[in-house]
Amino acid sequence: MAISTSRETGARAAGALRLPSVGLVDARDRPLRDLRISVTDRCNFRCVYCMPRSVFGKDYAFLDRDELLSFEEIERISRIAVAHGVRKLRLTGGEPLLRRGIEELISRLAALRTPEGGKVEIALTTNGSALAIKAQALKDAGLDRLTVSVDTLDDALFQRMNDVRFPVTRVLEGIEAAHEAGIGPIKINMVVKRGLNDHEIEPMAAFFKATPYTLRFIEYMDVGTSNGWDLDEVVPAAEIVERIGALFPLEPLGARAAGETAKRWQYADGSGEIGIISSVTNTFCGTCNRARISTEGRLFTCLFATEGHDLRALLRGGASDAELSRAMAGIWHARDDRYSEIRSELTPELRAARPRIEMSYIGG
Ligand code: GTP
Ligand code: 5AD
Ligand code: SF4
Ligand code: SF4
Repeated sequence: MAISTSRETGARAAGALRLPSVGLVDARDRPLRDLRISVTDRCNFRCVYCMPRSVFGKDYAFLDRDELLSFEEIERISRIAVAHGVRKLRLTGGEPLLRRGIEELISRLAALRTPEGGKVEIALTTNGSALAIKAQALKDAGLDRLTVSVDTLDDALFQRMNDVRFPVTRVLEGIEAAHEAGIGPIKINMVVKRGLNDHEIEPMAAFFKATPYTLRFIEYMDVGTSNGWDLDEVVPAAEIVERIGALFPLEPLGARAAGETAKRWQYADGSGEIGIISSVTNTFCGTCNRARISTEGRLFTCLFATEGHDLRALLRGGASDAELSRAMAGIWHARDDRYSEIRSELTPELRAARPRIEMSYIGG
């Protein structure tokens, strides 16, 4: 692969390495800032829009332990990614708190330093089921930020959506425990699916308004092939804003950082803000600075990428840090993905025929 680092500015890299530093951009001039690492493809929930029981039943073949990247391997990839400009490492899954020893991984990642000697932000996206038990240990390990998925406050519906009868109160207790442990900011993600939980938009807004937590509404996406996605099931961001605004007037807020997924809105009465992630009706590929590492160490340059680059083969084949670094730079340099932008140009048949990776494997 022809690898050019000519658009990179040299600087001192993390650890003892001298690697090319911040300034790496892809074919569309987008920098690499956010690395999302799936630490397990398993989950204790069976959310109907993500891991429906019909597909992820008891015969489903999850990855074996030795197929997963080890903590050493994740740390090595992360260190090189940080040298290339990554400033946020997000642990996802599956359910990342199911990975044994996750605290150890967090503390290893929290010790990484940018070429300028700064800290890297460590974030985690979880279903919250183990938070009440793990919050303090996560904080002690160095976790900075947390995102918890809550799709409804209606316990019967919550239990139906997670399909394992997990009560919403335990997730809410977990969120509180994380807040008390000093983890923050904490964001709440609600995936909105029309006809399933869209009537919960207003109650969720009312509940989380004036709390320390920022609620974000996510348009239901066509990730993977097992959720049987249909455009009619997407509640457009504009409708969500209109419905909440009718109850609690909203004002638009500017982006806090380039490449953010959520558009921010604040309550006119000063009681906080909400975010809307409109990956279907108002796409944000133009500034997308996110790469993903799947559970078994493939690097994906888009949530909808059909193929990943096998970094684990390089790691286990004895590649040096410099070789790994060159490979990762080359992959990012060649990146041209913008699936959400072109989704609307695809016919339903073409879209359906396109292979897609499950979110639980590639990482949300
Ligand atoms: P912050 O670090 O707080 O900005 O969080 P984030 O929005 O980067 O991360 P989070 O895991 O909370 O992402 C929220 C949701 O947005 C994900 O679960 C996805 O549904 C969606 N999302 C995140 N990144 C992308 C992306 O690159 N493309 C698309 N299409 N959707 C994304
Ligand atoms: N569309 C939008 N968001 C999804 N998530 C999982 N599947 C989908 C989908 N099809 C969300 C989860 C969690 C995050 C990791 O991704 O609810 O908040
Ligand atoms: Fe598990 Fe999250 Fe997928 Fe639900 S959305 S099945 S909690 S990984
Ligand atoms: Fe980034 Fe791909 Fe999502 Fe677009 S669809 S924002 S390129 S991950």
